[in-house]
Amino acid sequence: MAVTDVLFPVVGLVSVYLYFTRRRGLELPKPPGPKPLPLVGNIFNLPTQQLWLTVTDWSKIYGKIIYANVFGLGLVFLNTAEACSDLLDKRGSIYSDKPHLVMCGELCGCENMVAFTRYGDQMRRQRKLMQRAFGPTTISKYHSLLEMEAPWFLKRLLENPNDYTTPVKRYAGGVTLLVTYGYQVKSDDDAFLQLADHCVDLLANKIASGVGIWPVDIFPVLRHLPEWAPGSGFLKKARAWRTKMEEFVDRPYEFVKESMLKGTALPSFCSTLIEEGEAKDTQGDFDLRWTANSMYSASIDTTLALVLQFFLAMSEHPEAMTKAQKEIDAVVGLDRLPAFDDRKNLPYVEALFNECIRYGVAVPLSLPHRLMEDDIYEGTFIPKGTLVFANIWNILRDEAVFGDPHLFRPERYLEPVDDEMAKRRDPKNYTFGFGRRVCPGRHLAQASAWILMASFLATMNISKAVDANGKQIEQAIKYENAVFRMPSGLNIDIKPRSERAVGIIDGLTYGQ
Ligand code: HEM
Repeated sequence: MAVTDVLFPVVGLVSVYLYFTRRRGLELPKPPGPKPLPLVGNIFNLPTQQLWLTVTDWSKIYGKIIYANVFGLGLVFLNTAEACSDLLDKRGSIYSDKPHLVMCGELCGCENMVAFTRYGDQMRRQRKLMQRAFGPTTISKYHSLLEMEAPWFLKRLLENPNDYTTPVKRYAGGVTLLVTYGYQVKSDDDAFLQLADHCVDLLANKIASGVGIWPVDIFPVLRHLPEWAPGSGFLKKARAWRTKMEEFVDRPYEFVKESMLKGTALPSFCSTLIEEGEAKDTQGDFDLRWTANSMYSASIDTTLALVLQFFLAMSEHPEAMTKAQKEIDAVVGLDRLPAFDDRKNLPYVEALFNECIRYGVAVPLSLPHRLMEDDIYEGTFIPKGTLVFANIWNILRDEAVFGDPHLFRPERYLEPVDDEMAKRRDPKNYTFGFGRRVCPGRHLAQASAWILMASFLATMNISKAVDANGKQIEQAIKYENAVFRMPSGLNIDIKPRSERAVGIIDGLTYGQ
């Protein structure tokens, strides 16, 4: 038999095999983006602060989808609501993974937190638990609790109006500890609150700062460095941070179990699910423990960013604040705080709330989703493993939907539009992310932020601080946090609106 007799069929078979197994779309270009350098890619194009502004500038050159890379790791930025919906919503089955982060996930032990879990059964189980606790129909169960907590925020603010950050954190943390673990925070130096504060700070500003990518995530072999080797400091840090994170997960959960045994447990997310048998086996117990913790971790900085944006907006736009206050005075009266039952009768307050969400953009690039398979979108090739970011900042500044998007203008939501536009211009449809990883705490977050803002407007005034000559001090706002749009450098003055307002706040009796 001639060699060619064997060779031709083999070559033929190999060609057919290669044709069917070759990566679909490899011949297509990747989405456009800034030109990368060899090896390091676009690392020098990506600022550590306010990346969303850079990406938005790029969108004017490259369009709705942008590709960049860092040491070969693909990053895609989706700049329009349509692109986010096309990929993150409609192709959710391949766009809902999370990156395997060696430092954050493996070494610091955060891989079981909902925001970091890989796409699959564990993610589904955990999100289902959250859906049960915080779905749109169950959320009204927490209304009375939120109505009781909001006044305590005002009381703390009244006691120390210069420190407005602590009461907000205490409110967000207190609400989540109460709802999740049935734990009532009694003071600012409460042990759980401090532990949580420390760990949330660790997570946002150390472990997962930026997009959570450390050199060891790009070169996993670094994890085997001996601890004495130069450049291995991250290993020592990871060990210490892991211990702290585990304590943060275990201590409040053990508190629930102990109080259930003693018969002193308040009804909560954990106690209800434990009673329903969700924690009867090791896996259920593990899921519940980590899901509960994920809620706490995810609620503090997000809520704080939104409320600080509200303070900033009110200090810059007193006319909007006054208009909302007049509406509250007319609907609620001057002798009590607003309640959820009043919400439907307070359209301007609702519009102001929406505008704070839109204008503030608490998480401007959302959290990254990892693409699980090669994909093709509008003639471009997106490789498997790419991290995909929704540019919520740009979506909420879309001129076609929010005319004059750079103006703070609550009135825009009161202008009549058809149903389709009403849906498109609702910032709540974007600010909580997209697809199968959309924020599971969004209904709780909206309710807790609304009651806090409405209660604040009913009783407090905010203005820019003035200097010794009575001249307003301009605010030099900075955004240093890489993930959350958290303003710092506010120069504001918070005062009660009237003696009557002080009276309402002072008249509180709910346990401190
Ligand atoms: C103003 C407040 C909040 C904002 C703006 C916000 C926004 C977001 C965004 C943008 C994401 C990423 C979604 C995505 O990947 O597409 C997210 C994820 C998440 N949020 Fe929120 N959030 C807020 C409050 C909360 C609260 C109060 C909780 C818990 C009670 C919570 C729990 C979570 C969790 C667990 C995730 C991860 C979900 C996953 O990866 O599957 N969030 N949030």
